[in-house]
Amino acid sequence: MAQKEYAFPKGFLWGTATAAHQIEGGNRNNNWWEFEQRPGAIRNGDSSAKACDHWNLYKKDFAWLTKLHQNAYRMSVEWSRLYPEPGRLDRKALDRYVAMIDELRKRKITPFVTLLHFTVPTWWDRQGGLLNRRREHLAHFEEFCTTVAEAFRGKGVYWNTINEISIVMLGYLTDEFPPAEKSFLKAARAVNTLLALHETAYRSVKRALPDSKIGLVHNMQMVQPLDPRSLSDRALARAVDFLFNGSIFRGLKTGRLIHGKRLPGLRGSTDFFGLNFYNFMQVSRSLPDMVRTATPDPTCGEEKLCAGIGWEPYPEGLYLALKRVAAEFPGMPVYVTENGIGTDDDAWRRRYLVDHLKMAHRAVEDGVDLRGFFHWSLMDNFEWAQGYMSRFGLINMDYRTQKRTLRESGRLYGEISLRNAIPPAALKKFPGDIYRPRF
Ligand code: FCB
Repeated sequence: MAQKEYAFPKGFLWGTATAAHQIEGGNRNNNWWEFEQRPGAIRNGDSSAKACDHWNLYKKDFAWLTKLHQNAYRMSVEWSRLYPEPGRLDRKALDRYVAMIDELRKRKITPFVTLLHFTVPTWWDRQGGLLNRRREHLAHFEEFCTTVAEAFRGKGVYWNTINEISIVMLGYLTDEFPPAEKSFLKAARAVNTLLALHETAYRSVKRALPDSKIGLVHNMQMVQPLDPRSLSDRALARAVDFLFNGSIFRGLKTGRLIHGKRLPGLRGSTDFFGLNFYNFMQVSRSLPDMVRTATPDPTCGEEKLCAGIGWEPYPEGLYLALKRVAAEFPGMPVYVTENGIGTDDDAWRRRYLVDHLKMAHRAVEDGVDLRGFFHWSLMDNFEWAQGYMSRFGLINMDYRTQKRTLRESGRLYGEISLRNAIPPAALKKFPGDIYRPRF
């Protein structure tokens, strides 16, 4: 039987994604840096102080993008770097970001720029951070967004407003993220502020650049009841799904915040949907912490779970997530803005990549308007509370020497981008069925 051709639509964007705090080094003026100073907050006591030194090495890093035949790249601009103090713009830092964008364009790579990827300036945090939704507080973010939009005018940038509202919210439900508090009330308030920041970003960039394309980036949690026959598990799954997904979708569609109050301007404030996809979430009151992200005795073996984070791969979930986005937002262009695995086993990373791309392709065949795919990540980097032990890169990082070495998965991804299809050799190597957790 002839092998199926997994070819992607013409003009499909192939990229990788990164975030400023995770790769740049030297970001000591934000809430994550503060959090890192707490003993025990970061695994092995790792620090983002140097990270991949990308702030200085960006040209070398972007040369890799060309070697990997990339036509897109997703990065973030660090607010605390541009505004180390309220109202004081660091022009040199802004120039550096402009140089980065120019370097990408020189290489014919479409930049996707995220305005807020987890970190906020320390001074803004001290003024109430994500729990303060007052106009003058949000105006600081507006100033930052407008500055960046104007600086990148005419450079063909696609905009991502906020990265993963529901994951930032985890800082108010778990101790993995700052401010490491546990309060449902505060979590809901933080979601409302983040929706308001998204609206602020959308409005400011649109005002500065009316023709630009701007989208939210959402991490879709595929929430399932642990026992589908249990009423209580099903009710919990619905509630958790609303908290993580539904509240955000509803906000974008109706303009309502989590408690139902309307925010003018929120409704319809996304031109495309940025989907990050990693894992499933099974919920039940009978589970410790009510949640699990891996089945007991996964068939892929514990060492193949996402290192440190313990997510079990769920390729089919990417297909289901894409279908859900298309159902919630009919006709809206979609980009997979992140997908990848933290592992030391690069063959497993390749399989993960192929399995997920098969599912992305299936969604395209079903009519989902998927326009691009960004692998997380270009190179190993500072994986938040997991520090450096979770390696997500197509490029291996030696943090001691800052030496970058391409992995086989990187070579494979480069070939995929070049062909705009999964190459036959990879299909042969990872044949048959995709990996499926035994729910
Ligand atoms: C996502 C984050 C990204 C990275 C990956 C592994 O939730 O957006 O910064 O940490 O997870």
